[in-house]
Order: sequence, then C-alpha cells, then structure tokens
Amino acid sequence: MEPRVVGGEAQGMEEQEELSLRPQKLSQYIGQSGVKDNLTVFIEAAAMREESLDHVLLYGPPGLGKTTLATIIANELGVQIRTTSGPAVERPGDLAAVLTALEPGDVLFIDEIHRLPRAVEEVLYPAMEDFFLDIVIGKGPSARSVQIELPPFTLVGATTRAGMLSAPLRDRFGVMSRLEYYTAEELKEIVVRTADVLQVEIDTEAAGEVSRRSRGTPRVANRLLRRIRDFAQVQGDGRVDTAITNRALDLLQVDTLGLDEVDHKLLRALFSRFNGGPVGVDTIAATIGEESHTIEDVYEPYLLQIGFLQRTPRGRVITEEACSHLGLERS
Ligand SMILES: Nc1ncnc2c1ncn2[C@@H]1O[C@H](COP(=O)(O)OP(=O)(O)O)[C@@H](O)[C@H]1O
Ligand SMILES: [Mg+2]
Repeated sequence: MEPRVVGGEAQGMEEQEELSLRPQKLSQYIGQSGVKDNLTVFIEAAAMREESLDHVLLYGPPGLGKTTLATIIANELGVQIRTTSGPAVERPGDLAAVLTALEPGDVLFIDEIHRLPRAVEEVLYPAMEDFFLDIVIGKGPSARSVQIELPPFTLVGATTRAGMLSAPLRDRFGVMSRLEYYTAEELKEIVVRTADVLQVEIDTEAAGEVSRRSRGTPRVANRLLRRIRDFAQVQGDGRVDTAITNRALDLLQVDTLGLDEVDHKLLRALFSRFNGGPVGVDTIAATIGEESHTIEDVYEPYLLQIGFLQRTPRGRVITEEACSHLGLERS
C-alpha cells in the first residue's frame, strides 16, 4: 500500500531510508532550539556529575523528531539505546526482562508510552524512581514479591498525547519537552540536508516550496521529497526544480499550504454537513470514514496550528481563514 503522504509512521523501505536520514548528534538536529538548549545543559550536567540523565518525556505530533531525538540523547551520552513501545510491552514480566538487560547509564526508549498497560506502568514507577524492580513471582498462596536492583538508566518516553499519560507516570519525568511544528526556514534546511543524503539535486526555490507544503513536519518533507524525486527521475532529468515540484505536489493532491485530501474532506464536511460546527471529532471522523485517533493525532493539530479549526467545549469549528482558503461561501 502506498504510504499516506501526511500521516503514519514510515514503513518498509522507507523506514530503512528514514534511519539513514536521521541526524546523529544534537548539532545536526535542526530547529527545536528551546528543547535542544535545555537538553544540552542537562546532558552536560549529568556527565559532570557522572550520573544517569534524568528521565525525559518527548511529546508532540507524529513526525516531528521524537524518535530521532531519543537516539541523539543516547549518542550524546555515549550509551546504548534500547527501544520498545507501549503496545509491545504487554505484561510486567516483559518490562522486567527489558529493564534487567540494561547496562548502567543506558537509555531505554519507550515509544507511544501512553499505551503502556496499567499493570506494566506500575512496575515502571519504582524502576524510574529508585532503580529497583518489585515483582510478584508465583500465584495464589505461594506468591511472593521479590525486589531486584537495577542499574541506573534514563527512560526516554515519546507520545503524541501527553494528556493521555497517567499523572503518576507523568510526574516521574524530570524533563518534559514538547516538540513544535517547524518553521518553513527550518524545514528548508532539513529538505536540503535530506536531498544531500539522498544525492538528489534540488534548487533553492524548490526546497522552499517543499518546505512550505510539508505542514511543519520533517517526516512529511522527507516523504514529499522522495515522491518528487520519482517524478523528476521519470519525467525529467532527475533534477528537482520548481516546475517538477509543483506538478508532483499537485498530482499528490497536496495543496499550497500542504493540506491533503483528508484535510479537505474534513473541512468541507464540517462546513457543509455541520454548518461549520461545533461538532465532535468522532462525528466528523465517522462522516469522512477516518479513525478519530488519526484525526486527533495527525490532522487536527496542524489545522488548529494554522488557525483553520478552533476547539470549543462543544466541538470543532471551522474558521473564516479555512473557508476562504477552500473557497467556501456561507449562504
Ligand atoms: N530536527 C530534525 N532535523 C533533521 N531531520 C529531522 C529532524 N526531526 C526529524 N527529522 C527527520 O524526520 C523523520 C521523522 O522523525 P522521527 O524522529 O521519526 O519523528 P517522530 O518520532 O516524532 O514521529 C526522520 O527521518 C528524521 O530524519
Ligand atoms: Mg517516532
């Protein structure tokens, strides 16, 4: 299946390529200056004290660089990174296995940490706070609890929904960093860097165009660049210029602001079926045949960011700006 231009994680070949596109050091990580500056200090301080770095929670919409940053943190600390994800850790024993395999100072990266089962989360609390495991062995009357000491480690958690984290888990992170959408200038730098890695020739204007149409998201920018490269190879001389960029993006149904057909469907449905809102996300999602969590994680945050949607207690409302971009006239 053709991966969606906007949403979702990279898959297959694309995932392989994404690995090679990831910057390895903080100095190569473009943008997010607030987050970067803070992490630089905390990493340096931990190194000076010869302690493990405090636990870090990274949150923000998909594709903004959470996984990349987790890897960079481990690189900067000069330690190994072990990676797992909320849904992959089903039972407390699974987590115990991961934790006891850590070396002192290692980074444990848990992606989609808001999806950890509650019973697993509870094992994590003492592990995060005092570096020990408290697990129950056996069942019934012969069950007993054993405590296992753990090496000091740094938990890096990533989530698209900080609000869905339980309060006790959230409280155990010493550092909470929210990743923001990138500016067009920052994305342009990323596009130029990616083109360099992929050995694609791209002119400055074309790089600017791609970055303006990538909804503030590096993953989208990289993905669009790959698709445009395909057009450039097949229909041109391999060079990415403005003409081929515009043609490719039009064919991919990515509009001048980077909105795709799902954004359009969503906004049009909101306008014509619900009189502009307010209407709940679940209702919109059902109307346009999308999952509500996809709408909430991927589409809505950007539409809110550019002022095309507003969130009210009674649901989502379309704005004048959105209507005029789509050429929708209220009767
Ligand atoms: N600050 C950045 N500088 C350069 N490339 C970035 C940056 N942030 C993300 N990327 C690129 O975007 C892609 C998606 O980033 P990723 O870390 O997987 O996002 P997330 O985990 O938040 O969904 C990666 O391939 C990476 O190359
Ligand atoms: Mg990720």
